[in-house]
Amino acid sequence: MSDLPALVADLRERARYYATLSDLGLPPRAAASASEGPVASAAVDAAAADAAAALKAVREDVGDCERCKLAGGRRNIVFGQGNANARLMFVGEAPGAEEDAQGLAFVGRAGQLLTDIIEKGLKIPRKDVFIANVLMCRPPDNRNPEPDEITACQPFLEQKIDAIRPKVLVGLGKFGAQWLLKTAEPISRLRGRVGDYKGIKVVPTYHPAFLLRTPSAKKEVWEDMKVVLGLLAE
Ligand code: URA
Repeated sequence: MSDLPALVADLRERARYYATLSDLGLPPRAAASASEGPVASAAVDAAAADAAAALKAVREDVGDCERCKLAGGRRNIVFGQGNANARLMFVGEAPGAEEDAQGLAFVGRAGQLLTDIIEKGLKIPRKDVFIANVLMCRPPDNRNPEPDEITACQPFLEQKIDAIRPKVLVGLGKFGAQWLLKTAEPISRLRGRVGDYKGIKVVPTYHPAFLLRTPSAKKEVWEDMKVVLGLLAE
């Protein structure tokens, strides 16, 4: 019984592997049962479904949230989106105007750049990663998140990460990186070092909105993404 956490971790890793096979056009069930037998295949499916169910439960718990003062000014809660079995998860700051309008994370200009980083840089389909923010509601005029808002949203981001258990977390900009690393150090000092969030590797990098203003920083972000690829390949 003491090996249960290791077994669960192993099943999750297999579920992700079979999800990759499915992206390549191979049927995951057939691939699983060919090598492991139908029992293992069912366990893999169950582990994958588990993460999705856990994430759904977190969303239900969020409900029509009014736990902080941002509730009054938002149009939509931006829970975050992507693959519940993602090996890679991004944590940004907070929804902007476009995200608030659509209820989806990173769909504005910064989001387009993030998509390019993921799809052109990392060569991973965006649908295979998970993207969330420190805050689920848009702060007025896109001001910085305030401590009481971060505290109100914190348990939900923790639960999302617990549900997904990615192999690598990328902290986007000051707020994403500081939240994950529980530090007040500036992003300029955090990036370039791999950190840890509950045993998950954390790669801090510049926020895509900063890159829109400072394109010369893209080379540092590319360095960080090469670190991400190395960690994913381990
Ligand atoms: N900036 C963020 O930090 N998150 C978004 O979802 C969009 C822009």
